[in-house]
Amino acid sequence: MLYFDHNATTPLDERVLEAMAPYLGAFYGNPSSLYRMGRICRGAIDTAREQVAALVGAHPSEVVFTSGGTEANNLALKGLAFAREPGLIVAGATEHPSVSEPLEFLKARGWRIATIPVGRDGLADVAFIESLPAGEIRFATLMLANNETGVIQDIAPIAGWFRELGIVFHCDAVQAAGKIAIDFKASGVHMMSLSGHKIYGPKGVGALILDKAVMLEPLLHGGGQEQGLRGGTENVAAIVGFGKAAELALSELEERRARLLGLRERLEAGLKTIPGAVVFAEGSERLPNTVQFGIAGYDGEALVMNLDRQGIAVSSGSACASGAGEPSPVLVAMGVEPEVAKSAVRVSFGKSNTETEVDRFLDVLKKLVGISTSESRGVMPII
Ligand SMILES: Cc1ncc(COP(=O)(O)O)c(C=O)c1O
Repeated sequence: MLYFDHNATTPLDERVLEAMAPYLGAFYGNPSSLYRMGRICRGAIDTAREQVAALVGAHPSEVVFTSGGTEANNLALKGLAFAREPGLIVAGATEHPSVSEPLEFLKARGWRIATIPVGRDGLADVAFIESLPAGEIRFATLMLANNETGVIQDIAPIAGWFRELGIVFHCDAVQAAGKIAIDFKASGVHMMSLSGHKIYGPKGVGALILDKAVMLEPLLHGGGQEQGLRGGTENVAAIVGFGKAAELALSELEERRARLLGLRERLEAGLKTIPGAVVFAEGSERLPNTVQFGIAGYDGEALVMNLDRQGIAVSSGSACASGAGEPSPVLVAMGVEPEVAKSAVRVSFGKSNTETEVDRFLDVLKKLVGISTSESRGVMPII
């Protein structure tokens, strides 16, 4: 199988598995226990906290481990809301459901949401943000990199604007972490969400990076773990794996970025030879591994299913939205016509993909849309 869906999830790095193994076996202690085995497990969590903090330029004490990006986003948004009187929340138009759905939940409880529009380039409209009644804003959230298009927002000036006004600013960096350099301190962001399984770590673990000055209500009470912000006995092995994955992502960041960008450029050059193919937000700064494209007249879901028959795994949008049959809300927010948005296919490369695999993908895709190539015999066209 050719796996090109790394924005959905990544395989576990062997080195991560190796680091986790002792905590799935011999070291089964509760990190809150005072005896030696407990202390060993606590020490392993402390190391992981340092590794995750280093990946994003934060202090280890600013790392709150969670069960993943979804919980980190929920903790940030509901945790802020539960500690404040209802008012206005400012949010991006292309947020992941783990941000947009908690906001809908809050909306039903008296909060108002101002959605920052995006252009066809996928970038937030800064003038809109500056036109908002600052005194009414309780907090704001904007993702760093979009899971579908890969578009990277220019976060620092926006975070700086909110910080100057004393407004807490949260950023979902789940897709950006490990793919581009992140400096939490320098960015001016107050809270940042991360996830283990997007960076070759295990599923079911993530973190909220939290500026200590921010008041937050926990979602899970009990036990006092994670500075009282996330009660529950820690998933030591997963946290250790996340830490190791973060360490590797940091040390290999530039090497991975350069390789992924090479694959992205190769794919985009190939797509240019397919009539009617467009890369969404092509001119914007995007993640080095992500290409979301459409081919006029073709249905994205059908292309995904036909590619699957040829052993190629891609997505027609975010994993959560696939199968829904609706055009991607991200593309619709960008002003892409629904019928064009329905043709969307997302390719997201990972560190072990190769140029040969990209070429194979292009050959199969061309055959599926009726363009014959020398190497793609045996692939049945869709129409
Ligand atoms: C931008 C973004 N935020 C949050 C999440 C949720 O992360 P998790 O799967 O760890 O809950 C995802 C996962 O697809 C994502 O792409």
